[in-house]
Amino acid sequence: MNSSCAAGTMILSSRPKSFVLAGMLALALSFVGLTARAAEGEMSKESTACLSCHDKQGLTKTLDSGEVLSLSISTTAYTESMHKKADCEDCHSNLDSKTHGKVKSAIKSKREFTLGMRESCRDCHKKKATEYDDSVHAALIKAGNKKAPLCSDCHNPHTVRSTKIVTPIAETPCAKCHEAIFKAYSKDVHGHERIAKGISAPLCAGCHQAHAVKAASMGEGVKDACLACHKEAVNQHKDWLPNTARHFDAISCPVCHAPDAKRRVNLRLYDSTAKRQVAEKTGVPKFENRADAGDSKAMGLDERALWSLLKEFNQDGGDGKMLLRGRLEVSSGVEAHQLAEKSKAIKDCDTCHRQGAAAFQSVTLTIAGPDGRPLRHGVQNEVLNSLTSMESVRGFYAIGSTRIKLLDYLLVLVVFGALSVPLAHMTVKRLFKGVREKLEAERLAAAQDANKQASTGNRHDDDASK
Ligand code: HEC
Ligand code: HEC
Ligand code: HEC
Ligand code: HEC
Ligand code: HEC
Ligand code: HEC
Ligand code: HEC
Ligand code: HEC
Ligand code: HEC
Repeated sequence: MNSSCAAGTMILSSRPKSFVLAGMLALALSFVGLTARAAEGEMSKESTACLSCHDKQGLTKTLDSGEVLSLSISTTAYTESMHKKADCEDCHSNLDSKTHGKVKSAIKSKREFTLGMRESCRDCHKKKATEYDDSVHAALIKAGNKKAPLCSDCHNPHTVRSTKIVTPIAETPCAKCHEAIFKAYSKDVHGHERIAKGISAPLCAGCHQAHAVKAASMGEGVKDACLACHKEAVNQHKDWLPNTARHFDAISCPVCHAPDAKRRVNLRLYDSTAKRQVAEKTGVPKFENRADAGDSKAMGLDERALWSLLKEFNQDGGDGKMLLRGRLEVSSGVEAHQLAEKSKAIKDCDTCHRQGAAAFQSVTLTIAGPDGRPLRHGVQNEVLNSLTSMESVRGFYAIGSTRIKLLDYLLVLVVFGALSVPLAHMTVKRLFKGVREKLEAERLAAAQDANKQASTGNRHDDDASK
């Protein structure tokens, strides 16, 4: 510690706060030169006093964890920041003025210190704080994940500049924690556009929001963000993609726009009455238990496991509302950020609409976990052809061979009945033979139509999709 701080501690001891601050001020004035004070024009006396000790290179404190916490705050950076009019004590209200700087305080680790300061922004930024409370990051913090970001991980409170200033993309606060995704993003269409032209293309927060960040593959938030910028996209796809709305519901945008990505089917547990994905109730990890049991065979959940899971969720007040809905996704977060220019996008219907298409060989099942992120489990890909996954199969009925709308009727049976799977299978086969044949004929006609429409596209896009 240097001499000015030592002197300061003497003044600090055992006096009411205002006197302490006056003391600090006097101290500050005596130690800080004239030029520095001019720059501090807008700062309060109290803050100036704090800085008389803290604007020192090399002022540090060793924490219990062995980490070294730098205590230097630059007056210049502070007076140039958006917080120049805030007092240090607006945020640091918990310092004990009697002992501060004199008695060593015990701090476990850097992270504990940051966590301890986490409520300091709320009073002045209520709206952002409320948005943040609703985020996956806040849920992670609540659940005890110390790596998730707090306000001050994304905004340095002592140097914060206007967020309207356009900075290089590498300065997005998301980059330091989601490094692999950032790397992918910086090379994709939006990253390139952003580097070349600045603000028009989205950075991370442009698609995910900065504060109310939600788990990406749950809900429709990201898709809505895409379509909010690409207002013409639905119409542009309609020119060649039949039933575009259905495709957009069942396929996440990167599936076609990240041409090199691996794809998979994700079965999402869905409440058909509330029309939203189901979340695991906190403290009732039904899904996890069941799925772990299924996983223990290391082959993924099979048809029966899926079926009994659904049944269990429905018995538990679900009243037959719980369904599984299929959605095509890319298989990793990195791949979701490898969007290519439009000429490379998947246009070939055959990529998906053929027997054994690669995307349908890998299947997962997800439900929203307590922090809002999806809990994922492997599923045997045969379930796509099976009875149990009827709702997802209905979704994918145009794909492959004999999967048809008949499965809508099956749904009723399995959800309400306590029928065993094989029994349901036989009964239904008999019951709906006629319906099935009719639908099959319709399906073939539709597929032929579709192929005709698509053939131009196929030729046009052959290179890109290989
Ligand atoms: C807008 C709120 C806010 C204001 C104003 C503020 N601080 Fe901080 N300060 C914080 C937060 C939050 C942390 C914890 C940040 C972290 O751990 O990265 C912190 C950390 C610190 C630290 C520990 C070192 C560090 O950088 O983590 C010191 C020293 C400090 N502040 C001093 C000051 C002084 C001196 C002032 C006035 C000139 C001031 N602070 C003004 C919010 C504020
Ligand atoms: C007399 C010099 C002095 C003054 C004035 C001073 N500090 Fe400190 N400050 C220190 C020293 C020394 C430490 C390290 C204490 C330790 O090792 O435990 C410290 C530590 C801190 C820390 C780290 C957390 C902690 O509790 O140890 C923060 C934050 C901080 N000061 C903020 C402030 C603020 C805000 C003010 C003005 C209200 C202020 N300081 C005034 C000397 C000072
Ligand atoms: C005492 C009130 C106060 C507290 C506490 C406070 N801020 Fe601020 N903050 C302000 C003011 C005032 C501005 C300037 C607003 C303006 O001019 O638009 C500001 C601006 C900001 C900006 C820049 C906004 C922009 O327009 O780009 C960010 C980011 C920010 N604060 C983050 C934080 C964080 C993080 C914390 C907690 C560590 C915090 N603030 C605590 C008062 C406060
Ligand atoms: C995960 C990173 C992250 C976290 C955590 C975060 N922010 Fe932000 N914040 C951003 C980004 C990025 C922006 C830039 C503007 C945008 O895209 O919305 C921003 C913008 C702001 C702004 C300026 C908004 C405006 O529209 O003028 C304020 C104020 C702010 N944040 C305060 C906070 C507060 C308070 C917290 C904690 C409750 C917080 N931020 C947590 C990343 C974050
Ligand atoms: C153009 C819009 C867009 C931008 C920009 C964007 N993302 Fe994403 N992000 C997505 C999409 C789409 C997904 C996958 C959602 C899905 O499954 O449907 C995703 C998924 C994610 C995921 C979840 C990955 C997982 O394992 O499931 C994270 C984390 C993420 N993004 C972080 C970021 C970060 C950090 C940045 C900035 C470097 C960023 N994103 C930029 C659209 C975007
Ligand atoms: C301090 C580190 C940190 C920062 C900064 C940060 N994140 Fe996160 N984020 C995490 C952690 C930890 C998780 C949970 C583990 C995971 O899913 O990767 C997470 C999860 C996510 C998820 C949910 C992943 C999923 O499964 O869908 C998204 C989306 C996300 N972050 C986006 C962002 C965006 C956008 C930013 C910047 C505005 C950002 N993050 C900044 C640490 C961070
Ligand atoms: C079935 C595959 C597929 C899906 C799903 C898909 N796209 Fe496309 N998209 C394409 C193809 C192929 C093109 C190029 C069409 C052309 O050039 O004629 C394209 C073109 C675009 C373009 C450029 C439009 C133009 O003409 O300038 C945008 C923007 C776009 N898509 C956004 C999206 C968004 C957002 C989503 C998700 C809501 C999405 N796409 C889903 C295949 C798809
Ligand atoms: C903040 C607005 C914004 C958001 C959000 C956004 N984009 Fe873009 N996107 C742009 C801009 C700007 C460009 C570059 C100019 C252009 O080609 O339209 C672009 C380019 C593209 C292209 C390349 C088009 C071409 O001509 O080759 C595709 C494909 C695309 N975006 C898809 C998406 C998808 C998918 C999402 C969501 C996951 C998304 N965009 C979200 C603004 C946005
Ligand atoms: C990336 C995979 C993919 C590509 C490429 C694709 N589709 Fe599809 N298609 C699907 C999926 C998944 C569904 C199931 C949608 C649902 O009903 O849930 C579907 C559904 C359909 C349907 C039935 C829609 C309805 O009314 O329910 C038709 C018809 C169709 N696709 C035709 C085409 C044609 C023609 C092309 C090429 C121009 C094409 N698809 C390209 C995946 C794809």
